[in-house]
Amino acid sequence: MTDDDQQLRVSKIRNGTVIDHITGGQALNVLAILGIDGTSGDSVSVAMNMPSDRLGKKDIVKVEGKELSQNEVDVLSLIAPAASINIVRDFEVVEKARVERPSMVEGVLECPNHNCISTEDEPVKSRFAVVDDGVRCEYCETIIRDNLPAHILAE
Ligand code: CTP
Ligand code: ZN
Repeated sequence: MTDDDQQLRVSKIRNGTVIDHITGGQALNVLAILGIDGTSGDSVSVAMNMPSDRLGKKDIVKVEGKELSQNEVDVLSLIAPAASINIVRDFEVVEKARVERPSMVEGVLECPNHNCISTEDEPVKSRFAVVDDGVRCEYCETIIRDNLPAHILAE
């Protein structure tokens, strides 16, 4: 067995997105951010706690047939700051980008404050500024410090 045989633990995809170098243990939260619960029928592979030179341990998520929105990438960067996004077409990586910490995330997280205007029936999109200790609601200033994935808006 060559090294390659040993390392190829998840098969390559034809068309879609590979999110690589995810902080070990965060893959399921990445799926939540992408709104993937398995019901769409698209193929999804997940590898968790794979050995990584750079991160010690990393997770990988491969999604056939999907490209990510900027909002999804922005929230993802908060829980997986070292992640790389690889767009695959016809088995080739045609685009590779590292995620960047955004200054703002819009429309992906829900404010935990039930009296916040963004959580009422108003047509107001949630907006959070990314701050040192978490994300801060632009409307009511509530700060979410921990467990961002628990605050992802249901789609
Ligand atoms: N990949 C895949 N299906 C493909 C092509 C690539 O699943 N058809 C995956 C690879 O397994 C890898 C990631 O996409 O996890 C990036 O591929 P590639 O750029 O070829 O690998 P590396 O050069 O090792 O990436 P990096 O430098 O970002 O670590
Ligand atoms: Zn708020």
